[in-house]
Amino acid sequence: MHALFLPFEIKAFLARAVLGFGLKFSRQTSIRMGKGGKIRKSDFGYLASSHMSKVRAPSLNMHAISSQSGRSDSKMSRAVIIYDTKFGNTEKVARALAEGMKKHGVNVDCFKIDEVDISKLGDYELLAIGGPTHALGLSKPMKEFLQKLENVNISGKRAFAFDTELKFRLAGSAGKRIEKKLKKLGMSIVKSHVSAIVKGGEGPLEDGAEETFKQIGADIAKSLQ
Ligand SMILES: Cc1cc2nc3c(=O)[nH]c(=O)nc-3n(C[C@H](O)[C@H](O)[C@H](O)COP(=O)(O)O)c2cc1C
Repeated sequence: MHALFLPFEIKAFLARAVLGFGLKFSRQTSIRMGKGGKIRKSDFGYLASSHMSKVRAPSLNMHAISSQSGRSDSKMSRAVIIYDTKFGNTEKVARALAEGMKKHGVNVDCFKIDEVDISKLGDYELLAIGGPTHALGLSKPMKEFLQKLENVNISGKRAFAFDTELKFRLAGSAGKRIEKKLKKLGMSIVKSHVSAIVKGGEGPLEDGAEETFKQIGADIAKSLQ
């Protein structure tokens, strides 16, 4: 039978069904298509990222989640990195060390030597101390700082020393001197001192130095677990 000859009720039913489907379809597609009804490259980006963020949120936000859900910061190891620097190279190394530790769940504070409140050092499990090598050994600010440490009880805490220095045989090493002093104060050395090499007196650091210190930070963090 030709459609024109269908009873009116059947035609009306078919029309409603077709119209209803069309409306439903256009509502669904408008969400996906964004403004103007066109799918733009950015819409795909948006859809992908909103979808991905839902899927990945738990693993990406482990820190936030762990501190919100019972594993409080007080249970995380705490470390402080203290550095001296004249031209900024030792600071870069110190920050790389901090990054490596943080990535592995350590709660890290990083201070320049003249910003540290030594009365707070008792709060930390590990102290990492580093500075530039001057006159084969310690810079003046580092010498003074290490002397001040004699007035605080840090005996038994863990420690790591580092420095920056030029690459020549008799360069000396501030890190070696720092480590010696920390041992004298009764600290337990978690890893023998490490030197980052500078290409000239004012830097820059040799390629890969910061990566190396990130890795050292990660290794130290693992040793604290
Ligand atoms: C006064 C002075 C003395 C230095 N003596 C030495 C030295 O004995 N051995 C060495 O390897 N580098 C020496 N250097 C170069 C430093 O190692 C270099 O400046 C430092 O590592 C850069 O680090 P910073 O940018 O954190 O200051 C000396 C630098 C200065 C300014």
